Amino acid sequence: MALVGVHRDRGELRIHESLEELITDLADYIAELSEASVKERGVFAIALSGGSLIGLMGKLCEAPYNKTVDWAKWYIFWADERVVAKNHADSNYKLAKDGLLSKVPIVPSHVHSINDSVSAEQAADDYGFVIRQLVKTRMVSVSDICDCPKFDLILLGMGSDGHVASLFPNHSLLEEKDEWVTFITDSPKPPPERITFTLPVINSASNVAVVVTGESKAEAVHLAIDDVGPDCPVLPSRMVQPTKGKLVWFLDKPAASKLVSVEFCK
Ligand code: 6PG
Repeated sequence: MALVGVHRDRGELRIHESLEELITDLADYIAELSEASVKERGVFAIALSGGSLIGLMGKLCEAPYNKTVDWAKWYIFWADERVVAKNHADSNYKLAKDGLLSKVPIVPSHVHSINDSVSAEQAADDYGFVIRQLVKTRMVSVSDICDCPKFDLILLGMGSDGHVASLFPNHSLLEEKDEWVTFITDSPKPPPERITFTLPVINSASNVAVVVTGESKAEAVHLAIDDVGPDCPVLPSRMVQPTKGKLVWFLDKPAASKLVSVEFCK
């Protein structure tokens, strides 16, 4: 059973004894949000990231989730994507397709991947346009406090430098207030060209989950969650603060090993 904690303004923390436990809890969490969203809106708009996240979602392809989740109602997006061909080993679309989307009955026209035949700038513009059309038809809901899309769930990983999606520390993209989707051509994590949701979009989601495992992320988890005072470096993951939505951290014990200021419920 996960140790569940809360931090005043950094959301819910679920610290898992083992990776296996985290994987099951994550599948249950996604399946429950899918069910609630389909019940309320008729659809489930979910944004994925790259990295280890897709592997950790693997249980969704197995029983009972492969049969119980209403896959036909899923609309898939990417919180960030590398600007490479869809069949390239670096593509987040390929990662998700091979690891999840090809194993469950998702409707192909509901999978909204980026245009991989244009520049990073154009791909970001095109992706923003696609999302705008889906907001108009309410396949993606809209925030009631700004004009941003309100995804039912945005799933993020975190790098050991504290980056989320393709929002890196000390990068000007962290200041972006107007665009929904933007681009980067100098990503410190290869490949250099990427598109990414901006912080206003991430923080407008109904639910945001940050899934982080391994000891190499422990310091970044501490800086992203604990009360570390005014000298704390500005971590993108610390800027994930859903305005009205719910933030949940899925951590394993090594990733949570440097946390200090958290109150645990059990
Ligand atoms: C990407 C990702 C990125 C990733 C983190 C964590 O495309 O590179 O979306 O934000 O989620 O780097 O990756 P790991 O979980 O593999 O460390």
